[in-house]
Amino acid sequence: MLLDTHDLTDPGFWAREDAYAILDEIRDEGAVQRHESAKEGPLWAVLTHREALAVLGDARSYSSQGGSLLGTGHGPPAGAGRMMALSDPPKHRAYRDPVMPFFSARHATRLEDRIRELTEQVVERLLVCEKIDFVRDIGAIVPLTVMCDLMGIPDDDRDEVMGMCDQAFLGHNPAERRAAHQRLLPYLLQLAMERRDAPGDDVISALATTLELDEVVLNCDNIIVGGIQTVRHTAAMAMLALVRHADAWRELSEKADPKLATEELLRWTSVGLHVLRTAKADVDLAGRRVRAGDRVVVWTPAANRDTTVFKDPHRLDLARHPNRHIAFGWGEHYCIGGPLARTELRVLFTVLSRLVAEVEPLGAPEYNQSIINFGLDSFPVRLHRR
Ligand code: HEM
Repeated sequence: MLLDTHDLTDPGFWAREDAYAILDEIRDEGAVQRHESAKEGPLWAVLTHREALAVLGDARSYSSQGGSLLGTGHGPPAGAGRMMALSDPPKHRAYRDPVMPFFSARHATRLEDRIRELTEQVVERLLVCEKIDFVRDIGAIVPLTVMCDLMGIPDDDRDEVMGMCDQAFLGHNPAERRAAHQRLLPYLLQLAMERRDAPGDDVISALATTLELDEVVLNCDNIIVGGIQTVRHTAAMAMLALVRHADAWRELSEKADPKLATEELLRWTSVGLHVLRTAKADVDLAGRRVRAGDRVVVWTPAANRDTTVFKDPHRLDLARHPNRHIAFGWGEHYCIGGPLARTELRVLFTVLSRLVAEVEPLGAPEYNQSIINFGLDSFPVRLHRR
């Protein structure tokens, strides 16, 4: 079996030029397969769209409490059962419902003008630079600012909070990233205590008035972590795809429907490479007997290029419709930030294609070493004004 020689939990696999060709061959060997990962131990690998929906759509059989991501060590992760991504129904709703109004499609529409204004400012500023890093300079400034808006971060603290978040994700080494994160948590706790007494119209207040303080901090952290890196890496990987597909870049500025194009870029990049669950009881999955306690990993890019669902899946087709990708997951834990991320990405690529004639690569993109948010550490480019 190919999974004996190819380790999907190794980030190096995903940076290979032939990763998707190998993935097709692996999927042909079975929708659901046993996978002995050197780092993670025994896992079930889910490689087809139908089985991915079966796992993610059944939160009663497949639990998130044992972790929703690989790479965080064995045993229950910190915050298990006390935050949105790491809790099961019915408790899960206690963490998700209070903040839902801030992440609805309607709210994302209301934020669109602000997102466009911010995005135009960022792109205009960078158009005069000879060299920029698409990952650091473009991908996260808007999501970070919007996140500060949603959290109600006071204006005076913004630069510091944005600095902490940036360091927490793109610090030069794990110790630097951890240290920045450790500074962010007490800051959030302080705000949570203040908002509990004097609530405003923001995410922290919505959580602080319904949950324990440690749960407020965990869930704010979950939302910040969920909302910044994912958009940053999707933007960078999507730009890389567009640089490599000149016809698609042209199509984007000339005739593409921005909504359909965004969906295709989400499918194509699938930066949330995997979603982890733990079986609660014995269950059959595509003819395999999954035992209670087994860890089951849905590989998003494999499902998103499943030929039985996507016609010509290895073609970047900005007009693809329907496009039932699972880049935002599926079921109970479906990405709460989906509408916001869609708006941020659609506006970004609309603004770019309107203002920029060419995105010229000035060096090789550097892949990050992550199977959580698979993306780039740097992508040096120059933007040429249209
Ligand atoms: C392109 C951008 C994004 C991608 C690819 C992405 C991907 C995902 C995926 C695959 C899940 C499901 C995880 C699971 O089933 O265990 C998820 C959940 C989540 N995402 Fe996103 N996400 C993105 C943007 C955002 C944004 C902008 C936010 C917040 C502002 C956010 C916050 C969250 C949260 C809090 C969850 C947990 C939801 C729950 O457990 O009910 N994400 N995301």
